[in-house]
Amino acid sequence: MQENRPPLTAIPAEIRCAQDYEAIAGHFLAADRLAYIAGGCGQETTLAANRAVFADLRIWPRLLRDVGQGHTALELFGRRLAHPILLAPLAYQTLAHPRGEIDVARGAAASDSGFVLSTLAGRTLEEVAAQAGEERWFQLYFQAERRHTLDLVRRAEAAGYRVLVVTLDTAIKLPSLRAQRAGFTLPAAVVAANLADYPEVAPPVLTRGQSRVFQGVMAQAPGWADLDWLLGETRLSVVVKGVLHPEDARQLKARGVAGLIVSNHGGRSLDGAPASLAALPAIRAAVGDAYPLLLDSGIRSGGDVFKALASGADAVLVGRLQTYALAVAGALGVAHLLRLLREELEVCMAQAGCATLADIGAAMIFKERETR
Ligand code: FNR
Repeated sequence: MQENRPPLTAIPAEIRCAQDYEAIAGHFLAADRLAYIAGGCGQETTLAANRAVFADLRIWPRLLRDVGQGHTALELFGRRLAHPILLAPLAYQTLAHPRGEIDVARGAAASDSGFVLSTLAGRTLEEVAAQAGEERWFQLYFQAERRHTLDLVRRAEAAGYRVLVVTLDTAIKLPSLRAQRAGFTLPAAVVAANLADYPEVAPPVLTRGQSRVFQGVMAQAPGWADLDWLLGETRLSVVVKGVLHPEDARQLKARGVAGLIVSNHGGRSLDGAPASLAALPAIRAAVGDAYPLLLDSGIRSGGDVFKALASGADAVLVGRLQTYALAVAGALGVAHLLRLLREELEVCMAQAGCATLADIGAAMIFKERETR
């Protein structure tokens, strides 16, 4: 089995911007683990599109505007956040660092950032909550049995998680070709700690002619009735993650979901799905101005955060960069990453003449190709 290099106890001098964590992650993460984390599904078309769409957007600089009282604060689900950059839920952060999600939570708290703990975290939601700041959210995967799903919800409520993020875009989850080719398998010590007490439910036994996909995996996948049931069971704000189609967005809002995360799971779900950023404007148009919308997939800099906000997001989540910073320097790395992203956003806002997030609108950006 390949091993990671031990994390540092100081920030390495070569980290000068948030994306530098991606550049040096390979010095710290074992090659097969890096392949699992960095890879996307299929031919990685959507993974590549996530970056390309950000790269195609340009930001208008504006002159002589007074931003002396500027700030990045916002209201989300009835709470004030210091800035709009949260940490996305990621499975098995103990792959990157022995303390895993505990250090992610500490890094988030040290930088006034919200984070979302995955159902598939390597540490339990209770032990993470004990080390976390107030802005902790829990990401829920529906379990094969409702009583296990409900138990996770009750545990998250009891541990003070404030928002429930229900991820719906990965009923079928295949290991990426990149991870398979690198020979990646989960090390024995890396487990889904939250699920330890729930026995696995065996998939249905298929008869000849039945499909492994339709009658197999999808037989256990959640549907609208499960979402309605969940909404009736909890008083936490429920946010759905993995939305790309405006019609789904409209229906979810009508059903009573508190907000949406526009996401293609960082290019790890349906290869060929649109880049989240490309899907965002139509979703904003479908749900109206006041409805909370977050975006992830492809954020690598504060400039990307600006572009996402200008395209209709209220806030963003950062996936892989978080793991890279964790692998390099644990909680310190995560806090440093978030500080860099926030500062990069502030620099962008100042140069674009935006004193607050409310000033960042569609008129601040354009597609470079449209001017050619
Ligand atoms: C993920 N993602 C994810 N999402 C989720 O809801 N629950 C999970 O357990 C995981 N696990 C996970 C593991 C790894 C290794 C990756 C890379 C991603 C998706 C994640 O929350 C987010 O949508 C993407 O990572 C965002 O894209 P970027 O920022 O990585 O480009």
